[in-house]
Amino acid sequence: MAEIARQHWSAERYAETAHFVPALGTPVLELLSPAPGERILDLGCGDGVLTEKLVAAGAMVVAVDAGPDMIATARARGLDARVMDGQKLTFEGEFDAVFSNAALHWMRDQRAVLAGVHRALKPGGRFVAEMGGHNNTAAIIVALSAALARRGLDAHRLTPWYFPSADAYRKKLEEAGFNVEDIAIVPRPTTLPAGIEAWLDTFAEDFLGSIAEPDRSRARTEVADLLRPVLMDETGTWIADYVRLRFRAIRAE
Ligand code: BEZ
Repeated sequence: MAEIARQHWSAERYAETAHFVPALGTPVLELLSPAPGERILDLGCGDGVLTEKLVAAGAMVVAVDAGPDMIATARARGLDARVMDGQKLTFEGEFDAVFSNAALHWMRDQRAVLAGVHRALKPGGRFVAEMGGHNNTAAIIVALSAALARRGLDAHRLTPWYFPSADAYRKKLEEAGFNVEDIAIVPRPTTLPAGIEAWLDTFAEDFLGSIAEPDRSRARTEVADLLRPVLMDETGTWIADYVRLRFRAIRAE
């Protein structure tokens, strides 16, 4: 019987293979435009690299993440970082803004997330975020689906990811009590500095973790072989088919 491994976060592995995630956060930081003295909640802060930029802008930041190892690393940077599930936020009307980069798509219960963000904001407060959008990493998902299907597994039942279209997420935001000022899908081909197999090890544990070794390693190689003609350029660089959903919404009342 296959051993089921759920996604877990190692700050060390993340820093080695996924440092591009915070590094590419500039557009959403600009959309947030943090001001000195503002109280900001960083939702899904990871290892705190972007949180530090909010602090450097003069904001008073509380950072939360569900991964204890990520939070330990964020605290080691001197940040006010707390282990908290984004689907169970406990804050009440205390933030001028809620910020999130590359985290919301890991949260399946979006109704709970949006209710918690709404509660956490002061009336008129802003929710500014970037997440995976519709068609994000589509080639990778198809290749994972093929490798899993050969083993009798359904990738769509295992996926931890939620990549909405702009229209679908606008509706969710409005239903949760936000006025949406700006929401857009932004294709962003993304270089994977450590290659696709390291990316799969870091991000696709929910899929490949359901296959026992040594077949798990074979499945990862199959996924890479399927993707090579599509995602590797002529210089040997892996470029993933990332698509972002970026938005700015205001708590209505
Ligand atoms: C993303 O940031 O878009 C992403 C990260 C991990 C897996 C899939 C997507």
